[in-house]
Amino acid sequence: MRFFNTAAATFVATIFLYSLLPVDAQSVFDVISNDRQLTLLRTFLTTTPGLANKLRSSTDITIFAPTNQAFANVLSNPNVDLSPAQIAQILRYHFVPSGEFLASDISDGLQLRSAFQSERLTFQVNSTGVFVNNFSQVVQPNMMASNGVIHKIGNTPALPRTILNALSAPTRPPTTPAPVPVMQPVPAPAPAPDGLGNIVEVACHCIGPTDEAFAALDPSLVEALTTPAYKFHLQEILLYHAFESILQGPNLLDSFSVLSPEGLFLTTLNTAEDRVQFRSPDGQSLVLNDGAANVVVADVAASNGVIHAIDAVLLPSFLQETVATVIASDTSNLSTLTSLLNQAGLVEVLSGDGPFTVFAPINEAFDVLTELPDLDTLTDILTYHVVAGMYPSTLIEDGLELTTVLGSTIRFSVTEMGVMINDNVPIETTDTVAGNGIVHKIGGILLP
Ligand SMILES: *[C@@H]1O[C@H](CO)[C@@H](O)[C@H](O)[C@H]1NC(C)=O
Ligand SMILES: *[C@@H]1O[C@H](CO)[C@@H](O)[C@H](O)[C@H]1NC(C)=O
Ligand SMILES: *[C@@H]1O[C@H](CO)[C@@H](O)[C@H](O)[C@H]1NC(C)=O
Repeated sequence: MRFFNTAAATFVATIFLYSLLPVDAQSVFDVISNDRQLTLLRTFLTTTPGLANKLRSSTDITIFAPTNQAFANVLSNPNVDLSPAQIAQILRYHFVPSGEFLASDISDGLQLRSAFQSERLTFQVNSTGVFVNNFSQVVQPNMMASNGVIHKIGNTPALPRTILNALSAPTRPPTTPAPVPVMQPVPAPAPAPDGLGNIVEVACHCIGPTDEAFAALDPSLVEALTTPAYKFHLQEILLYHAFESILQGPNLLDSFSVLSPEGLFLTTLNTAEDRVQFRSPDGQSLVLNDGAANVVVADVAASNGVIHAIDAVLLPSFLQETVATVIASDTSNLSTLTSLLNQAGLVEVLSGDGPFTVFAPINEAFDVLTELPDLDTLTDILTYHVVAGMYPSTLIEDGLELTTVLGSTIRFSVTEMGVMINDNVPIETTDTVAGNGIVHKIGGILLP
């Protein structure tokens, strides 16, 4: 299971990259997403239609965020079987839409209306600390986001009255149908020594290609993928085999949709949010992506989730992309570059074998050009932004010089302001992968 461990390690690396976003740019949802104690909350939010978006776009909000441990304390109780609808109600009950309440605004006896049917949360403040509904203790107050504030709560999530009543009902009516999809509580993971293991343990349900599956790939591709230059390509392929969803249960065959003609589609953790199709033609076997791979060993329990071994490596969508299509598809930031590449006839070059590293000026970068240069000058400028070879951000260090396709070099410096090229052009967004290269967005034009 070496494959899975690598997947785990790279997934942690991804989380790290996300957490480098400047704090003031992070929405409540981003802050929750980047917190390793809140991975279950994040998972529940993303599977509750509309709510994740509210936490990104509403302003002046307060969220009481149950930790993984708090959720686990409830979900691991064998007498509790919450449906996805009840989980959604619980989430809304932790969302105060009517203001940003800092810890200093919360006094003993205060009541705030939640987004779940305006049902109230009641606060207790005493020498032990701050409590919600006499039970859920605030364990980390005042986590600030651009659009509100988050207070982490421990013990258990606060439960709205309707759910408390349902839980305290003596027996469930035997006729109650099981909610679909089946909720499988994830036991609280033991904290990993480095404190990061839970992200993977809680959030990652994986399918892992067997050694034979790798052997079937082009050996030069496999070799390339193990080198540092292809770090992000490998990461994207591994994440295409990893799923965040915990709603389907560890045994995929338990889910009714896999028996339907369309099968069940699960979104993977890769950047493109590609989906993988799971279908069972006979209720016994599992076929992926219309026969691209078969599950050969299902439900291998691992300390960090569940692995289904498959007999072929699944190929994510980015492998069909070229640096040219990656640039063309970024219509909000790279449309000017796209049209200039077309005018200079360079799209065909960038659709070739590569590998290419492209430093792609965003639209604003072209504002300095008062008029369009002649075609030769334009071609020189554009080819000065392309390097033959694969240079992910992790290989770019202070003092590095790279020879461009034009022939002259560009030079990198790592400063407090970030990474600069030729001392004056900042790198803005790094490491968008394509089958034939990698694209970094830059905030200015490089002039040869
Ligand atoms: C909290 O506990 C106090 C004291 O036992 C009780 O009077 C109050 O009603 C409780 N509040 C809630 C919201 O359960
Ligand atoms: C503070 O309030 C909480 C919640 O009602 C309660 O469990 C705890 O015992 C109280 N602490 C003290 C010192 O009264
Ligand atoms: C690109 O466009 C989006 C909006 O579509 C914006 O949020 C982002 O900051 C832009 N810049 C870069 C460098 O990606």
